[in-house]
Amino acid sequence: MEQYIIKGGNPLVGEVEIAGAKNAALAILAAAIMTDETVTIDNIPDVNDINVLLEAMSGIGARIQRLDRHSVKINGSNVHDFSIEYDYIKKIRASYYLLGALLGKYRRAEVALPGGCNIGSRPIDQHLKGFRALGAEVEIEHGKIVAEAEQLCGTHMYFDVVSVGATINVMMAASMAEGTTILENVAKEPHVVDVANFLNSMGANIRGAGTDVIKIKGVSRLHGTSYSIIPDQIEAGTFMFAAAATKGDITVMNVIPKHLEATAAKLLEIGCEIEEFDDAVRVVAKGRLKHTQVKTLPYPGFPTDMQPQMGVVLALCEGTSTITESIFENRFKYLDELARMGAVSKIEGNSATIEGVPRFSGARVSAPDLRAGAALCIAGLAAEGITIVDDIVYIQRGYERFEEKLRSLGAMIEKVSSDKEIQKFKLKVG
Ligand code: EPZ
Repeated sequence: MEQYIIKGGNPLVGEVEIAGAKNAALAILAAAIMTDETVTIDNIPDVNDINVLLEAMSGIGARIQRLDRHSVKINGSNVHDFSIEYDYIKKIRASYYLLGALLGKYRRAEVALPGGCNIGSRPIDQHLKGFRALGAEVEIEHGKIVAEAEQLCGTHMYFDVVSVGATINVMMAASMAEGTTILENVAKEPHVVDVANFLNSMGANIRGAGTDVIKIKGVSRLHGTSYSIIPDQIEAGTFMFAAAATKGDITVMNVIPKHLEATAAKLLEIGCEIEEFDDAVRVVAKGRLKHTQVKTLPYPGFPTDMQPQMGVVLALCEGTSTITESIFENRFKYLDELARMGAVSKIEGNSATIEGVPRFSGARVSAPDLRAGAALCIAGLAAEGITIVDDIVYIQRGYERFEEKLRSLGAMIEKVSSDKEIQKFKLKVG
């Protein structure tokens, strides 16, 4: 089992290129099969989740041609099977975007019901509510969602919960329904806007993505396109917090600063210096940072996917901080791991109180999920001594070349998979 081994204490300094947004790419790749023409997509992050989804799409007949690590040509004209097996959905929940794509294009889709995951139960009732509002029959049979429709008709529906996945999935299906669909109480994340822009580049007619109301005029067919994915604001934010935790000076390159406003605001609040450029943001942290309060909210609020990284930084700040996780019900597991490194925190319901400590000490910890795993690496980079992070397969799902990018900033981190390699690293770093 691969692990990261880290010797902490070096301030991280330098520039790091940010990859394309995983959560935009997953939906856009699925939507690419909604036309019989060829679609070229670039700036795709080279991460495990993307590779699994492309496998699932190839498994139902889509022709996938990898142009390079970050670009792919997709042609969905040969899609013959509308059923996505459990193996794929177990590996990545986002395979459920094929529901909206297949239902929109073929009026039929079968996708295994996604289970919960490490951060919460993650129901998909709002996705199904939207498909039914469009006129689809949706049944759960033998662990599968079976959706089919004679015809998809425009509708006017209100999401009970602000959901990124449900907004995107229903928007996809509605883009090829007959008539006009109005979706209210929708998610406004940058990747929702990116999917709408992608579909519009294929000839869809979607207005209002990024606001509370999305209006979709259905079209009978979509055509090929070439499209580039937006930068990943969660990867960018992760490196920004690494600068804060290690008292470093990091510039994240190839980003859209507007997407990072909530993150930058919190870093400013605790005492970091922030410099914004057209497509870059610089974070400088000197001396001990100060406590603050954080509540995760749908965009443009503070992102839940940045909550563990914020928690690690707050655990090193002067004073007592609180974090309220309002999106998922089980996203504080990293605090138990962080306690092994000396952090002091107390979880009560969906809030955590964190008493800042002057330093962490390196320890062996385990990544509970993707973002918590990245946060524990940040903790190791700030800690005194050696930290070993287990279960890094979670991290590799969403971060491209994570340890390489950290090393380019001065981090002492390596991927290891044996005691021999661990000993070798310890000898090397002294
Ligand atoms: C997306 O998940 C992201 N994943 C998550 O990122 C991210 O944390 C989340 O959005 C929130 O921003 C991808 O885009 C692949 P939601 P998603 O539907 O769409 C409830 C990462 O680290 N809900 O916006 O599944 C749900 O339980 C991952 O990259 C319902 O009740 O999230 C949650 O409490 C982790 N019914 C809230 O809504 C539904 O039908 C927000 O979930 C759907 C969701």
